[in-house]
Amino acid sequence: MIQNFTSKWPIFAPIEIDFDQDRLRDEIVLSNILTKSKIATTQQVDGKNFWDDQKHFKDHIFEKQKEVPLWNDKELTPSTIDTFYQVNVTTFDEDDLADVWRGEHKTKTRIPLWIAEDYQWHYRSDYHLPYLESIVNSIGLNYVSMIRIIVQDPPSIGLIHKDSGIKTNSEYYDGGGINITLNVTTGGANLYFIDTDDNERHVDEDNIKAWHFNDGALHCTSEVSSQRIQIRIYGNHPNYKSIMDLNRAI
Ligand SMILES: [Fe+2]
Repeated sequence: MIQNFTSKWPIFAPIEIDFDQDRLRDEIVLSNILTKSKIATTQQVDGKNFWDDQKHFKDHIFEKQKEVPLWNDKELTPSTIDTFYQVNVTTFDEDDLADVWRGEHKTKTRIPLWIAEDYQWHYRSDYHLPYLESIVNSIGLNYVSMIRIIVQDPPSIGLIHKDSGIKTNSEYYDGGGINITLNVTTGGANLYFIDTDDNERHVDEDNIKAWHFNDGALHCTSEVSSQRIQIRIYGNHPNYKSIMDLNRAI
């Protein structure tokens, strides 16, 4: 059933892309690109995660959310459990993009690079992932901008955060923008998010290979038990909804 959502875009919808998850995992792992991944965490504000409103994700499976590393200026806080790492596959600039956002929270100018630099990017020159490229080519995009790999190695829990604003993302989709996740390995964890009715949802990732997710919604993952790998693809599609399974949208 299509649930209520204030924008005409769902927060979540399965995407019809078929690919071989094991083959993609092997290509990524054997390429050694994961050795370039860097921690992707958020700022500590008043001793806690900037995004954690302390109201959501209160179940016991999220208890270790309080123990993840956070940025305290440029130093990471002490932690007992790790969180996301990321590495880019495409770039508009240097091969190894240092950050995927521009601007600052303080001045409310912080926006993701896939929105700030919304045009054709190129694949980095030092790693080649031909199977991934062929999957991206199969989506029928007008152009691809950012592709990045998100990885979690145990012990790790994906910290509570938003990547953008829901409205900012909706405007991006209105202009043809996409936000597709390829589920390579779940690592025994799941994506959890808060829907527009303030309900906690999670994705049964064993049954969905690819999905659209509006990452302006508050989200996190449960703790992984093995390596979790996801690919995030941004770019422009002539008819994004045509590749969504709207019957299973949220
Ligand atoms: Fe995210």
